[in-house]
Amino acid sequence: MRLAKHLAHAGVASRRAAEALIAQGRVTVDGERVLDPARDVRGEEAIAVDGRSVGTAEGRRVVYAVHKPAGVVSTARDTHGRRTVVDLVPAGGERLYPVGRLDADTTGLILLTNDGDLANRLTHPRYEVPKTYVATVTGGRIAPSSLRRLRDGVELDDGRTSPAGVRQLGPGELELTLREGRKRQVRRMCAAVGHPVSALRRVAFGPLRLGDLPEGGHRRLSAAEVERLRKAPAEPREPPRAPRA
Ligand code: URA
Repeated sequence: MRLAKHLAHAGVASRRAAEALIAQGRVTVDGERVLDPARDVRGEEAIAVDGRSVGTAEGRRVVYAVHKPAGVVSTARDTHGRRTVVDLVPAGGERLYPVGRLDADTTGLILLTNDGDLANRLTHPRYEVPKTYVATVTGGRIAPSSLRRLRDGVELDDGRTSPAGVRQLGPGELELTLREGRKRQVRRMCAAVGHPVSALRRVAFGPLRLGDLPEGGHRRLSAAEVERLRKAPAEPREPPRAPRA
């Protein structure tokens, strides 16, 4: 892996900033100053920035589950000075980034990590990692025909939605599991069948559930949980049913 990419994965800086650190002569590999950001490293070398070891990328990767409250934005930094999900996790020296986005008014499970590779795999549309939401909707009980539309695909202005898992939990409460993540997708789907969302909470991301993590709270995931997340993108979707002969 390129040295600049390795530093970015280790949470030291963005790729661009890591290239600048290297060009400024501030990075050593096994004690030798390296000026080439494309220098190939295996992650086993002793790498230091300004003389401080960054360790191996493996040892420093962290993933946190955060229960995002409403009104907190899920970008790493907000240009309007609003509180971000990153502010909810006390600084431990790593530079954390949210894995995907939730609307400011959505609550629930969001992951933060300094592992760019994992974040990419969990959010890339190709991997279709399922995310589950509980939506409180207006308009009372949802007709079976509306549930069917939500499951089979709803026509939105950016195209038809993919098949989704949808259950009515009670009058005006739906659980939806989506394998895609378009902007305000759950809100737009529910509005399209005549039941606008009044509250939305994400309760699961891949194999990980929000559980009883209190609103505004966070916890670092165990190595086993990170491993299960890492495998989530590889889990095959159920094959389509063979047509009857
Ligand atoms: N769908 C939405 O409409 N909003 C979210 O925040 C996440 C999914």
